[in-house]
Amino acid sequence: MSAQTLHSMDPSVVDREVLATGGPFGLAGRRTVVTGAAMGIGRGIAEMFRQAGADVLLSDLDGTALAAAAAALPDGPGRVATVQCDISADDAGEALAAACVEQFGGIDILVNNAGIYPQVPVLQMTPELLDHVYRVNLRGLVLASKAAAARMVAQGTGGRVINIASIDSLRPSMVGLAAYDASKGGVLMFTRSLALELAPHNITVNAVAPGGITTEGSQRPLEGSGMTPEQQEEVMRTFAARVPLGRMGTPSDIAGATVFLASSAAAYVTGSVIVVDGGALLT
Ligand code: NAI
Repeated sequence: MSAQTLHSMDPSVVDREVLATGGPFGLAGRRTVVTGAAMGIGRGIAEMFRQAGADVLLSDLDGTALAAAAAALPDGPGRVATVQCDISADDAGEALAAACVEQFGGIDILVNNAGIYPQVPVLQMTPELLDHVYRVNLRGLVLASKAAAARMVAQGTGGRVINIASIDSLRPSMVGLAAYDASKGGVLMFTRSLALELAPHNITVNAVAPGGITTEGSQRPLEGSGMTPEQQEEVMRTFAARVPLGRMGTPSDIAGATVFLASSAAAYVTGSVIVVDGGALLT
C-alpha cells in the first residue's frame, strides 16, 4: 500500500509526516538513550530502536560488552554512540543526558532498562545489598529520568520516558526477590507519578513489565547452580510450561512493546504499564 493510499484512507491516523519517518511505529530522528544496553533486554531494545530508525546511545556498566553490542548492531539509518557508566552513581543520569545532547544534539527518548535481580531472602539480606539494588533499579532510574526530562522540557518538543519494570512490580514471582520486588514496585509508582508531572510538557512516561525473559542475567543463577546443562534445560522447560503461551520471552518481545511506547502510535498513552509475560500473570 502506498503512502498516498494510506493517507487518503484516514488522515487523522496516518499523516505524511509520520509516514516520512517510517510509519506510525517509525523512530527516525528520535534521539534515544538505552541503559543496560550491553546484553539481554537492553541490547534487544537498542537493536530494535536502530531498526526503527532511531539514533541510539547505548550505555552500560560493562564497557567491553557495551563495545561489542554496539559493534554488532543491525544496520540502520541513525547514529550510534556509547557511554560506559554505572547508573547507581550520583552523576550518571546527568552524564547520560549530557552525552546524548553532545552526540546527537538533543534527547527525545530515555529507556531505563539497567537492573539487577540478586536472589537473597530478607532474613539473609545485608543493608549493602538492599542499598545496591535500590541504587541501581530505582534511584538510578529516577535520576536518569530527571536529567533527561529537564532537557526534554527545555527543548519544548515533548519526549518519552520508558521504564523497564517487571511483573514483580505487580506480584512477587518467587521467594528471594523482596529487595528487587520493592524496587520494581517503586519503578511502577514513580512511572505514574512522573507521568502526571510531565504531561503538561507532552512528555509521556510508561512502563513495560516483562515476565520471564531469557537473557544473560536470568541464566546466571542456573549457570552458577552446579546443575548439568541437561538439568538446567529441564528447569527452563518446566518454567516455560507454566507460561500460558508455552515459552520463555525473548528480548525482542520486550523491545516490541518499548518501540510502540516510543512511537507516535502511543502519543496518547501515559502513566501506563504494558505487561509482556506470555500470560504468566493470568495463572
Ligand atoms: P541482564 O543482566 O541480562 O542485563 C542487564 C544489563 O544491565 C547488563 O548489560 C549489565 O551490565 C547492566 N547493568 C547492571 N548493573 C548496571 C549498573 N549499575 N549501571 C549500568 N548498567 C548496569 O538483565 P536483563 O535480564 O536483560 O534485565 C534487564 C531489565 O529487565 C532489568 O531492569 C530487569 O529487572 C528487567 N526484567 C528482566 C526480566 C527477565 O526475566 N530477564 C523479567 C522482568 C524484568
